[in-house]
Amino acid sequence: MSFKDIFHIDYSVINSAHARVNLIGEHTDYTGGYVLPSLLNFKTTIQISKNQNKQYQVYSEHFTEQKNFTDFLKSTNNEWIDYVKGCLFVFYDENKHIPNTHLNMFISSTIPMGRGISSSSALCVAILKTLNDFFNTQYSEKHIAILAQKVERDYIGVSGGIMDQMVSSIGIHRKAFFLDCLSLKFELIDIPEEWGFYLVDSAVQRNLRDSAYNERYNQLKKAEEFLGVEYLGSIKPKQFDENKINDKLILKRAKHVVSENERVIQAKQSILKKDIKIFGKLMNESHQSYARDFDASTRDVDLIVDRSIASGAEGARLTGGGFGGFTVSLINKNFIQEWKKNMLKFYDSKNIFEV
Ligand code: GLA
Repeated sequence: MSFKDIFHIDYSVINSAHARVNLIGEHTDYTGGYVLPSLLNFKTTIQISKNQNKQYQVYSEHFTEQKNFTDFLKSTNNEWIDYVKGCLFVFYDENKHIPNTHLNMFISSTIPMGRGISSSSALCVAILKTLNDFFNTQYSEKHIAILAQKVERDYIGVSGGIMDQMVSSIGIHRKAFFLDCLSLKFELIDIPEEWGFYLVDSAVQRNLRDSAYNERYNQLKKAEEFLGVEYLGSIKPKQFDENKINDKLILKRAKHVVSENERVIQAKQSILKKDIKIFGKLMNESHQSYARDFDASTRDVDLIVDRSIASGAEGARLTGGGFGGFTVSLINKNFIQEWKKNMLKFYDSKNIFEV
């Protein structure tokens, strides 16, 4: 199916946005800390044109479904169309001078959904980029990321950070995107040629993810209250006064974030020095902290991580919001064949992807 098959005219604007893998730095973004993601080849593409039918008409290739609407009210049962409505709502809200213009929209995507590689952020960034081109609003990539976050936080109602939207909007494939989530200053760093990053899909769909994610979010906000700071991400390990946190569970969650921020800074140094051993070690430590202190892993995921390391990876960890989804492994390219051969004993080749 193509745009023309559905709407019987040609599209006038096309744009796209990629999914991301987070190399290290989990649940640090909304605490004002650091992250180090990179772009994947998977992407979502949006095509649009104006229509005269006095309604918005949106077709999703993934859901093989068309939805028509005239207002931007959210559904009561979390439908995919809410993301589109949310983007339109936020976009028009920022551009009150632009008259409501009915559109045809065709959405296609190669991104596996619900696996922690930010399919929803890529969708929002792609829609906002396309609207930006169509209406010539000349937004910067950073501003598009901020609007996309607004859609998820204010319209959809997920307490996410800014990492996914920023890297999806600004990132470059095979470059690590070091982001200070408070100032939004970033650096794009070349990934050394001999480093291979591979994803393995645990095939665990994170249905319960949003509620668990929001719970972690609230626990970290609680930790900030205990410590009397605005952002947990501003606390260095040496300044971290554990005695101030009078709750064992909150303390564990906070420990993960404080130590994880330090690991992201060290990981950035090690990528600049092309030190694959240190980077791998930091990934392993990150996974342990994410699994033990943050309780965000699952048995299937832990098994992939263990097998990956036993197969020769320098490091491996669960990537993304947690509770299933993809793992990411770092392997020296000279040993990829061996690593793959071993992993294929346990996992299907369709679940293993090169970054
Ligand atoms: C999700 C959120 C991000 C970030 C990660 C965890 O992907 O959208 O903002 O918090 O989880 O690192």
